[in-house]
Amino acid sequence: MSMNAPRGTQDILPGTSEKWQYVEEQLADLCRRYHYKEIRTPIFEHTELFQRGVGDSTDIVQKEMYTFEDRGGRSITLRPEGTASVVRSYVQNKVYGLPNQPTKYFYMGPMFRYERPQQGRMRQFVQFGIEALGSDDPAIDAEVLSLALNSYRELGLKSLKLVVNSLGDQESREAHRAALVRHFDPHREELCADCQVRLDQNPLRVLDCKKDREHPAMETAPSILEYLNDYSKDYFEQVKQYLDVMDIEYVVDPNLVRGLDYYNHTAFEIMSEAEGFGAITTLSGGGRYTGLVQEVGGPETSGIGFAMSIERLLMALEAENVELPTDEGLDVFFVSLGDEANRTAVKLTDELRRAGIQVDKDYLGKKMKAQFKAADRLGSKFVLVLGDQELENGVINVKNMASGEQQEVALDGIIEHMQKELTGGK
Ligand code: HAM
Repeated sequence: MSMNAPRGTQDILPGTSEKWQYVEEQLADLCRRYHYKEIRTPIFEHTELFQRGVGDSTDIVQKEMYTFEDRGGRSITLRPEGTASVVRSYVQNKVYGLPNQPTKYFYMGPMFRYERPQQGRMRQFVQFGIEALGSDDPAIDAEVLSLALNSYRELGLKSLKLVVNSLGDQESREAHRAALVRHFDPHREELCADCQVRLDQNPLRVLDCKKDREHPAMETAPSILEYLNDYSKDYFEQVKQYLDVMDIEYVVDPNLVRGLDYYNHTAFEIMSEAEGFGAITTLSGGGRYTGLVQEVGGPETSGIGFAMSIERLLMALEAENVELPTDEGLDVFFVSLGDEANRTAVKLTDELRRAGIQVDKDYLGKKMKAQFKAADRLGSKFVLVLGDQELENGVINVKNMASGEQQEVALDGIIEHMQKELTGGK
């Protein structure tokens, strides 16, 4: 048995966890400005939710889910994505009946997919995503795209590419589906085993196949855009117009097929064009879904959303050399020597912390010099020194580590003194 973390998972240690916290705070603030509120759903759900929601013919459902039977004999799955759970919650809590629609949620949390791990592809990864449910106004499609792009831009990324497509409504999709079957059927035997099944179950998936990517029939495959009916065409035009008014640049790619079954109309992905980003260039993806709410037992309601992994976001930031805040050091390190002084140090450390100051102290019984060294290594702004002598005189020695300046401060005034020092006297 291995005692290492399972393949495709990672520990996020101090030095990196500050970057995560920073990014998470920025994303939450962005959502606040767009008026998306946080939703937290369970990490596991009934397997059926994803089978129905994400789609039986997708790689996620067929090959990538962490599914197990719980002790009560129920089939449970660790969530591979957030949309199905959000929609389940929306239906279960009858949120569709509330007066303020659309309902705009954001979420952040771990997702699980049994994929072949490589850079940017993990088995446990953290998705940040949003979902807007209850409106099919094309302006909200554009809002979601804008939020997605701005989440990268505001963190400092520049080399971004937005790719959009329309998958049309049910009628358009059926016409396209029939055209795809007509197109690929003569080549059926040349396609991979998975695609032969896809051709019957969900021919759109064939366009997304990694194995058959080079097959000549791929290039000449009928484009969905040729099969959009008037409503779908007009919908897509309006989305593009809204993007134009916001000066959002995009590329239309009729071959953009998403890896989940619930999409119709708008589908999009954001890619990194940064040099050295790696083989996987997709940073995030999303789109509109109309049948999902009904699939989960709710009334006919349209939604749109997107999701990104924080892992890929951090990779892109690194590829573009964007610096994020890391460990910020320490306000105060308490150096003490002698039993009585140690006791007073414990008391004052506690009081300083309760007064809002960040403090640490020695817990290894180190000598004075070694304690000073530790304070230095930790990047402490101030060192407070308390020995028997200071105790006797009722003072404490305060050293400013940047200037080297030292002063004696009365023990009973140390909290106020440090508060002043650390706020620059304000
Ligand atoms: P998705 O394209 O499957 O869509 O995943 C969205 C994003 O999650 C990807 O672009 C990528 O950033 C990240 N991601 C996916 N798999 C992995 C992995 N194995 N390792 C690291 N990152 C990964 C969805 O999940 C949809 N629920 C998005 C959505 C929301 N559509 C509508 N609303």
